[in-house]
Amino acid sequence: MKKTTMYLDKHFILAPVDERIYGSFVEHLGRCVYEGIYQPESPFADEQGFRQDVAALIKQLNVPIVRYPGGNFVSGYKWEDSVGPKEQRPAKIDLAWRVIESNQFGLNEFMDWTKQVNTAPMMAISLGTRGIEAAKNLIEYTNLKGGSYYSDLRRAHGVADPHDIKLWCLGNEMDGPWQEGHKTADEYGRLAEEAGKAMRLVDPTIETVACGSSSLTMPTFGMWEDTVLSHCYDQVDYISMHQYYGNRNGDSQDYLASNVAMDQFISQVAAICDAVKAKRRSKKTINISFDEWNVWYHSNEQDQKIEPWSQHPPQLEDVYHFEDALLVASMMITMLHHADRVKIACMAQLVNVIAPIMTSDTAAWKQTIFYPYEMISNYGRGHVLHSILRGADFDSSHGKASYVDAIAIENEDDYLTFFLVNKDLQDANEFTCDLRQYDSLQIATHQVLHHPDLHAVNTEATPNNVVPVNGKTAELNDGILRVVLEKQSFQMLRLKKNVSK
Ligand code: AHR
Repeated sequence: MKKTTMYLDKHFILAPVDERIYGSFVEHLGRCVYEGIYQPESPFADEQGFRQDVAALIKQLNVPIVRYPGGNFVSGYKWEDSVGPKEQRPAKIDLAWRVIESNQFGLNEFMDWTKQVNTAPMMAISLGTRGIEAAKNLIEYTNLKGGSYYSDLRRAHGVADPHDIKLWCLGNEMDGPWQEGHKTADEYGRLAEEAGKAMRLVDPTIETVACGSSSLTMPTFGMWEDTVLSHCYDQVDYISMHQYYGNRNGDSQDYLASNVAMDQFISQVAAICDAVKAKRRSKKTINISFDEWNVWYHSNEQDQKIEPWSQHPPQLEDVYHFEDALLVASMMITMLHHADRVKIACMAQLVNVIAPIMTSDTAAWKQTIFYPYEMISNYGRGHVLHSILRGADFDSSHGKASYVDAIAIENEDDYLTFFLVNKDLQDANEFTCDLRQYDSLQIATHQVLHHPDLHAVNTEATPNNVVPVNGKTAELNDGILRVVLEKQSFQMLRLKKNVSK
């Protein structure tokens, strides 16, 4: 058995966890909105058409923000088409996904739905086909009380109080040649600056996110962030990051090391933000919104066969393997290690489209990746402790990877929580941590997500094939925590502090 030791000091706090790091994403894409969160004809729907079985699962995930309405979709989005009486809304073609958008679920329905699932909106504007004027009108519609054309239009649409949307994405993946209205870094940086400025003039309390690179492998990565921020630094608060991984060559050990690349990507983006800060002699720090991250590759081949111009066909319906859940856990741990810079993150996406939740007409169920998301989102709140990990590592195509990924989070509810992944496909790993600094601790919960088959999946017929079980291998003796992490497993360990003897 290999061994891993974590060294930490309760006084060495990296950063508070911004709960928005546990966000998600709903795009008008495939069956995410239609048949996912909204299906008026379903027996599971309420009077507004919102699926209640899906809403119940989303609440279990405890999702603090949801990015909307895209994604690539937003670049051709005409928000005006999505409001007002449903029978007057036009069905329009969407060039991003080559489908027809009925607009039967729109901005005001989305806002109602966010309240139902206890989340907050992260709204994106189109800087692909549209610009400053549409952005200004949209925020007037959503955030002003009344007395002006667009705020009164909202009231006429039956929404008396402003939506008061606080977080705004200035476009989506504008560096990508596939994007409708794709721009150079100079073109986009200037537009983001002017759109952000106009929006803040309407509502100075908002926060804005500029588009960073669509992935680490974009040829313009680095220069893009530098140029964009050089233009719009004063008008934005965050720069976005997007990254998806996939086990394309069947080398699972190497695939599970993908979060090493994510770690480097975050460090590099933070460094560029700080370089621009220095060049501008600015006191302001730009933080990171990792607003698209996940595994995405299982559905790629299937999606090539979809005929254009239907309404909400099944697209990007990845059925996740057990190994994908391990990588998702490692990706979340990686982002938490950067909690001082990554303040927002959105698992892409929430339902049916590369999602933790799947639906059919007869059920909603949890994919394998639901579980690490659920556990870390619910129990990974508080502040991240600095930690050093000593243990075996291996060579991967992303660089040296440690077999164990680990993070410790402490919170005011008197818990010290560890999230641990043993990505070793051959060996168990004995994890230890000296916790004698803490007065009286007790192991409260130990949950393990493990499956002997890396390719095991959950389906409608077998929804409980991959589920967490109680762990039995943790012990705390004289302040020393010891837990045996079986091979290929994700574990959550919660220790209660200040237990009276
Ligand atoms: O999440 C799916 C797509 O991935 C999004 O629409 C786009 O922003 C990214 O390329």
